[in-house]
Amino acid sequence: MRNSPEIVEFTVPDRPAAVVGAGTMGRRIALMLAARGGEVRILDPSAEQRAAAAGFVTDQLPQVAADIPGGAPGTVVPLEDLADAVRDTWLVVEAIPERLDLKRDLFAELGRTAPEDAILASNSSSYSTRLFADAVTVRPERVVNTHFFTQLPACRIVEVMSSGTTDPDVMKRLMTVLPEFGLRPYEVRGESTGFIFNRIWAAIKRESLMVAAEGVATPEDVDEIFRDTLGTPVGPFRAMDQVGLDVVLDVEEHYAKERPGTPEGPRQLLRMLLDQGYLGAKSGRGFYSYDG
Ligand SMILES: NC(=O)c1ccc[n+]([C@@H]2O[C@H](COP(=O)([O-])OP(=O)(O)OC[C@H]3O[C@@H](n4cnc5c(N)ncnc54)[C@H](O)[C@@H]3O)[C@@H](O)[C@H]2O)c1
Repeated sequence: MRNSPEIVEFTVPDRPAAVVGAGTMGRRIALMLAARGGEVRILDPSAEQRAAAAGFVTDQLPQVAADIPGGAPGTVVPLEDLADAVRDTWLVVEAIPERLDLKRDLFAELGRTAPEDAILASNSSSYSTRLFADAVTVRPERVVNTHFFTQLPACRIVEVMSSGTTDPDVMKRLMTVLPEFGLRPYEVRGESTGFIFNRIWAAIKRESLMVAAEGVATPEDVDEIFRDTLGTPVGPFRAMDQVGLDVVLDVEEHYAKERPGTPEGPRQLLRMLLDQGYLGAKSGRGFYSYDG
């Protein structure tokens, strides 16, 4: 096991953190990282996204910081230039679109511009950092996956997964420090497409779709039985509608590519709905109707 004195001696939140990509996830990650009084830079090429993300963090931060022992609202700084965003940072989290070429280019640039001891993390849902850590020419062993899943106020999860060559001190550091930001880290103890929770969730979604495709139960019945037995606020079909059926299909196609023998039925049902323009809540119709 190699020691990285720079990382081990570092104390949070004396240095800024940066989030690259100010979309759905970037702004949520920035919100959590700003909850201990430190500075968080949020970088995005789109001025509209930067403004929306800064507004989102500013609105939510007082409540989120108040919920964390030792929490305090920090500052969020929207920026356009990568070198400005990563200067003096201890942590940079990437949350840009799910395209391997974009991630590779960004990590190569981060390797050149971020401080040598900064942890470089990716929030990618389906690409392990194993696929692009080698683009970082300076200390690639600081590259790691951090997969955030926050549904405030209660759910503040982050799954931490090695790239295969991540310095064990980086893993330890994150597992120790992230709870200080009100996050609950889980270590993924081996490379896993879908990390921990998304894999389990994928199985639930797939079997729910099979049950509906076979006519064994309606989506409403499945959701109802979930609420009755597990007490979840929504069942799998309502949850899929909220995520978007196009996104659900993309994720399922990705798993199917990795695992030959994955049943076709769930994807056929999703394709049938998508062909009719039913994308879920965002289009007004999915398994449920959202008119009005
Ligand atoms: N949406 C989710 O529920 C979710 C959950 C977990 C993980 N993820 C992962 O998080 C990442 C981001 O997903 P998202 O849903 O927030 O995406 P998004 O499309 O909402 O946001 C991406 C942002 O990145 C910006 N961007 C594009 N290219 C950039 C670049 N080169 N540098 C900086 N910014 C750039 C875009 O302008 C956009 O604002 C993806 O890897 C995705 O797999 C998403």
